[in-house]
Amino acid sequence: MKEKIRSLAGKRNAIILAHNYQPPEIQDLADLCGDSLELSIKASRTDADVILFCGVHFMAETASILSPAKTVLLPRQDAGCPMADMITPGALEKKLETLPPMPVVTYVNSPAAVKALSTICCTSANAIEVVNSLDAGDVLMTPDKNLAQYTAAHTDKNIHLWDGYCPFHDNLTPEDVTRVKEAHPDAIFLAHPECRPEILDMADVVSSTSGMLRYAASSEHSAFIIGTEVGLLYPLKKANPDKTFYPASIKMECLDMKKISVDDIFRSLESLEGQVKVPEIIQAPALKAVQRMVDLAVS
Ligand code: 13P
Ligand code: SF4
Repeated sequence: MKEKIRSLAGKRNAIILAHNYQPPEIQDLADLCGDSLELSIKASRTDADVILFCGVHFMAETASILSPAKTVLLPRQDAGCPMADMITPGALEKKLETLPPMPVVTYVNSPAAVKALSTICCTSANAIEVVNSLDAGDVLMTPDKNLAQYTAAHTDKNIHLWDGYCPFHDNLTPEDVTRVKEAHPDAIFLAHPECRPEILDMADVVSSTSGMLRYAASSEHSAFIIGTEVGLLYPLKKANPDKTFYPASIKMECLDMKKISVDDIFRSLESLEGQVKVPEIIQAPALKAVQRMVDLAVS
């Protein structure tokens, strides 16, 4: 099946992008695996005709925003993100009516129509840099309150929160972390900024998924506790066979990230079913916010 997919991808001039949380067999057949920022940059620069996204809906939407002329495929249309569903454009407009004018920084884990109302997007890899790039004292960050609180602790800006969160990261408790730390006292604890502030206070390193991959590869330590979605354990082990990785909690499994199968990829590439196309009325303003982030990241 892997060979059939590779040959079909060649015929269609398609590139297969996969998030670091995808199942092992999907990561192994993708052209590129990465965190949200790396995948956004790749989607903005590829000369492929078709982008097949192995991830969740907001990621395919972001690829469509950045490359509106390309065919963007999400092999399972029901692969969504519960955090992205915690905000709507109508609710954002209502919130903005209650605040003095201020820029809106929106995490890419959000609907395209919310990005269209935002000043600039961010990912977990660049939130602090994005907020610091703004010429304003007050900033509204949506939809992840945990990423916003982490950013607030590392900038002088006055950050206003939206009450959204990733259910899997937000579910990690200090008791979970203490248990794993006690079992593996020499292990370094890496946590994703989608975790709660009290978890980040316990972390040795806070970073995006690809930041964790880079840290583990270059660290002199040999054991790590991983405070993010459990799918990241596969690329960590693959790249570092001599090092040991423990999940902070096996509860941290995002079922939406596990929906796409190898068969779904083949079917979608063959039939071109599962297209994600952001309407132009949303794509044009959303592009401004996403492109501003990408330009900052690659400048
Ligand atoms: P990153 O890979 O950007 O750290 O993203 C985490 C995430 O939750 C994506 O859904
Ligand atoms: Fe959304 Fe969390 Fe799943 Fe990422 S891990 S797709 S933020 S629910």
